[in-house]
Amino acid sequence: MSNDPPVPDGLSLEAGFERVDDQSDPSFLVNTMDQTARWPSIIAMRAFEAEQLALGPGDALLDLGCGRGEVACALAPRVQPGGRVVGIDASEAMLADARARADAAGVEVTFRIGDGLDLGEPDASFDAVRAERVLQWIPDTDAAVAELVRILRPGGRISLIDTDWRTLAVDIPDLDAAMAVVRALVRDRGTAAAAGGRLVNLCRDTGLTDITVEPTTHAWTAWDPDTEPAPSGFFPLDGILPQLIDAGDLDPDHCATFLDQVHAAAREGAFFMSLTMFAVAARKP
Ligand SMILES: C[S@@+](CC[C@H](N)C(=O)[O-])C[C@H]1O[C@@H](n2cnc3c(N)ncnc32)[C@H](O)[C@@H]1O
Repeated sequence: MSNDPPVPDGLSLEAGFERVDDQSDPSFLVNTMDQTARWPSIIAMRAFEAEQLALGPGDALLDLGCGRGEVACALAPRVQPGGRVVGIDASEAMLADARARADAAGVEVTFRIGDGLDLGEPDASFDAVRAERVLQWIPDTDAAVAELVRILRPGGRISLIDTDWRTLAVDIPDLDAAMAVVRALVRDRGTAAAAGGRLVNLCRDTGLTDITVEPTTHAWTAWDPDTEPAPSGFFPLDGILPQLIDAGDLDPDHCATFLDQVHAAAREGAFFMSLTMFAVAARKP
């Protein structure tokens, strides 16, 4: 049992993807992953990653924060015959979906509960490791990368994909309100919020070599706030911003202005929001 406070109804920003199973409705976040898997930016970064990992028969791959297991299942045939894929996640709700996906696809993947800070795998036991959009939910990002590198064999490949919340751009007339929301989101989540833009230096700091980076941006151009709880694949803005006020990270006036203007823009067919993510691949010397 977790000692964290109980989460309120609706999506809790504090629990976020860090404690999916503690959300009042974990299926909201599970379904969010389904929506983001269709973003062209995610498809492009996963294609870049598959090329960089260059998996072949006999390889062992670990997927940290595997979520619904799309990538683990897609890559599993590449390591056969003789290889193995392990998907680790902190959420049973995510893993249930991942196991069903593997069964339906007829691929062999070991999906298990685990923690990015203690993977429970021997040193140098994997040829490749990947972590997509999970480091931003692990407060000690540096320790999580070091743990991935620990289980990677010398010469093995690592792929890290993450969002940088400093890049969230929302086109509303009041720039101060828009930037106040970004600052509040980043302040609330701490260093992990900048995980995407830190990946290259995290790889350098861990002594990795052959570092390559592929930035991609997802752009939203439409949202109907009267019928959709959130822009597709995003958090419900109306639900999470008041939590930033409660946490002391967002001024109530900025929040009210932001919500008024973003709703008005969306209703007038003038919604625009973008978020940049980075895919970084490297090798353990
Ligand atoms: C945003 S989702 C990304 C899922 C998947 N990698 C993808 O890109 O579709 C983040 C995932 O990381 C998991 N997670 C969060 N903190 C974790 C931790 N400390 N250890 C392992 N998994 C964690 C969550 O349960 C969730 O499934």
